[in-house]
Amino acid sequence: MTDFPVEQDQATQSEPATQATQGFNVESQATGESCHAVVFSTNGDGKFEFELEGASNEIFLGRSPDCEIQAKDMHVSKKHLRIYRDEQLCYFIEQLSPAGTFINTQYMKKGERRVLNHGDAITITSQLSSNTIPFASFFFRMTGQTEVTASREVANLAKVRVDTSDCDLRHLVTDGWVRRQWDISQKLGGGAFSTVKLGVRTKKGSKEQLMPGLRCAMKIIDKRKLTKFQRKRSSGESLNQEPELISSLQHPNIVSCLEWFQTETCIYLALELIHGGDLLHDLMSGGCLTEMQALRIFRQICSVVEYLHVTVKLVHRDLKPDNILLTSRDRDTMTPKLADFGFARLNMKSMDCHTYCGSPHYFAPEVIRAAQDPSCGYGKPVDMWSLGVNLYIMLCGMQPFEDEDLDMQILHGCWQFDVPKFHEVSEQAKDLIRKLLAVNPSERINIQETLKEPWLCTDGLATLVCSTKVDGVQRGEHPAEPGHKKRKVEFDPAS
Ligand SMILES: Nc1ncnc2c1ncn2[C@@H]1O[C@H](COP(=O)(O)OP(=O)(O)O)[C@@H](O)[C@H]1O
Ligand SMILES: [Mg+2]
Repeated sequence: MTDFPVEQDQATQSEPATQATQGFNVESQATGESCHAVVFSTNGDGKFEFELEGASNEIFLGRSPDCEIQAKDMHVSKKHLRIYRDEQLCYFIEQLSPAGTFINTQYMKKGERRVLNHGDAITITSQLSSNTIPFASFFFRMTGQTEVTASREVANLAKVRVDTSDCDLRHLVTDGWVRRQWDISQKLGGGAFSTVKLGVRTKKGSKEQLMPGLRCAMKIIDKRKLTKFQRKRSSGESLNQEPELISSLQHPNIVSCLEWFQTETCIYLALELIHGGDLLHDLMSGGCLTEMQALRIFRQICSVVEYLHVTVKLVHRDLKPDNILLTSRDRDTMTPKLADFGFARLNMKSMDCHTYCGSPHYFAPEVIRAAQDPSCGYGKPVDMWSLGVNLYIMLCGMQPFEDEDLDMQILHGCWQFDVPKFHEVSEQAKDLIRKLLAVNPSERINIQETLKEPWLCTDGLATLVCSTKVDGVQRGEHPAEPGHKKRKVEFDPAS
């Protein structure tokens, strides 16, 4: 009947109905509201709303003039389906016709009955796809509900006329669907707009890997906070940018996204669970890395950046230790995995970005300049700068820039190798940091040049030459004012 891949267990369940699954507010019935639920059409000229009122327990939808809800299209059967409810005011739908009906993305066969949830889309069509206009389509809503469901996603898919101007509603599900599919508990981390929690899949999903018991890091993004940020920064990005970008990337050093979905208030990214924490916490608890450890990790990070800049043509814009996850706590074997594509931007032109975003200690000078002067833009070199800051931190455990007058220090390149740890660090590594922290982006090395740097091509410490001097000014860096050391690597909750 249909070649649409029928997703099991989507927003509408065939499990027994309860008031909880439908979220129906019985109290509002007791207070005398006569309208319990509404079916409204969303396509064609015959837009209408049908209210299921106090007395009626069932209605029919079809071509016949006897039906409460009429659909004129010849593909619709005379009595196509029945919507009815029980004493608990739980609603059901029964398919009466052999012709196709979808509830959200679930196909219903003749004789099949399902629970009807608030927000469900009822689409009468032979095939649910973006280039098919359905024969008829409806929304089911209950009074006093705030939950929106997968219906609008389906409506989008079937080109139904629904106002989706508020945001892009792909992969839209109900809060109830999230509760039924995922057990989301212990907090793993978080930032300004999101919380990352341990998620365990409780039901089999549409993809093979989505098996019950699957553990993931569930990143939950607060849409309201993110929208506020995007408006303030006029960033022009869509809310779905992060899930869409991360789902499209494939690299052994990038956290993979197993699935994503959204409710009315949050975006959920089910990410591959990385067990060793992030590099920031590793550096805070264990101090800096040895040069060989840093070299091994940095090489892998550079390989990701090469993939992003050269293959995908994307600027990450937030390369920092908190966004570099580690597969284990063993510094000699752990593998870094880049996360957090919240600020990432597909960037075809070199100076396309203008938004002041990222984390202040990792800002390249041109990001600060772009914030001061809207005619300035920036591009991939900002990631190269951040790589320089990251490498500096990995090797000595301190930030190159102090908190005070941070922007001025960055704009003037006021930093130096003044941390004693740098006595043990090779000239090749320092040379690379200098090339990455070049204030002028056109003088900064790019990722391909970085990968050819002697330090990154080295096989072992034997070939690295260590400097014995406490250096700084003599290397051409502009020294920071004395009395510094407000440069501890720490968690920035505002970032
Ligand atoms: N896949 C993951 N596995 C384990 N922990 C994670 C994962 N993704 C994120 N985290 C933890 O959550 C923190 C915040 O995640 P991130 O994606 O950077 O969110 P934000 O955009 O809020 O900064 C990370 O620094 C890390 O500690
Ligand atoms: Mg982050």
